[in-house]
Amino acid sequence: MSAPDPPHAPEGALRAAVIAGIGSYVPPDVVTNDELTARLETSDEWIRTRTGIVTRHRITPGTATSDLAVEAGQRALKSAGASHADAVVLATTTPDQPCPATAPQVAARLDCAGAAAFDVSAVCTGFLYGLATAASLVVAGVADSVLLVAAEAFTSLVDPDDRHTAIIFGDGAGAVLLRAGTAGEPGAVGSFVLGSDGTASDLIEVPAGGSRQRSARVPARPQDTYLRMRGRDTYRHAVERMTSASRQAVHAAGWTFADVDRLAAHQANARIIAAVADRLDLPEQRLLCNVAHVGNTGAASIPLLLSEAVEAGRLTAGHRVLLTAFGGGLTWGATTLTWPDVTAG
Ligand code: UT7
Repeated sequence: MSAPDPPHAPEGALRAAVIAGIGSYVPPDVVTNDELTARLETSDEWIRTRTGIVTRHRITPGTATSDLAVEAGQRALKSAGASHADAVVLATTTPDQPCPATAPQVAARLDCAGAAAFDVSAVCTGFLYGLATAASLVVAGVADSVLLVAAEAFTSLVDPDDRHTAIIFGDGAGAVLLRAGTAGEPGAVGSFVLGSDGTASDLIEVPAGGSRQRSARVPARPQDTYLRMRGRDTYRHAVERMTSASRQAVHAAGWTFADVDRLAAHQANARIIAAVADRLDLPEQRLLCNVAHVGNTGAASIPLLLSEAVEAGRLTAGHRVLLTAFGGGLTWGATTLTWPDVTAG
């Protein structure tokens, strides 16, 4: 069985990509602040007040991003009542290996035989870049259904001895199934605001492992194989970019901020989310937030947040949702949609 047939489209209605299912997965192993304070020069109090994070999840040795992606993908397919997608797009910063892309393996393990499959790399903005890409495949008629999975095994990329990053990042995955539908129906993915600034690529980077270091034929220094982040500068950019992208997306939708029922911002740090909401004049009750128990899960952050919010009854059919993200690259983005009647798989 493939994705359910789209409802009969009114004559002249524009084709759009519509969210038909959602699911998420976090590995069972939990990293507490106490575990981190036992080996890093930090404190539970510092982590809670500066980031809002209390726990995050971690893969076990030998587990890879595709393992998380398959779990979340299965749940999104189940949520949509589908067993196949025409294309599988994987947003990730932590592919299983540098070559080939991880998406084809995910597609194969999800029994999406023959589906188009490729990775999208936009770090923490990966889900929004992936959503724009997946929706474009549907709108262009290349695919009638696309499974978009965002999955990260960030704990494999973070230096466990670096207190600037080890306290923040966690592992997890979220996925949505998009089907062909019509513009304006609940779940239809709207217009996108996407941007980048490569002049600040060094704010969040893994210096080694790519063509620049490998072509030099000099072995990488171990510390260069880990993720590095200039936290304070990143923080400032994150607040500015998510605020301005949100304003543009809400304007493009013809909404005002009074129309926004839920803000689903990238879960980087509770203070960043609060600062963005404050600038956009959005009260706390309208914010979706799960950073306290999952930490920063990179590209997976938004679909994991949406899926958990659906499960918790915090996000229901008809809610007008503003999605915004910021990440390495630098990259950022925002979009809006009216939440459809879906149950998390
Ligand atoms: O996912 C998308 C991209 N990522 C983000 O958006 C994350 C953005 N950045 C952040 O969330 C925050 O900048 C951090 C949580 C990383 C850091 O918080 P901060 O409030 O910006 O702290 P800071 O970097 O300005 O550091 C303040 C002080 C420094 O000490 P000095 O130089 O003032 O003496 C740090 O060395 O806190 C120190 N510090 C810590 N102390 C205890 C940094 N990390 C820690 C730590 N525990 N884990």
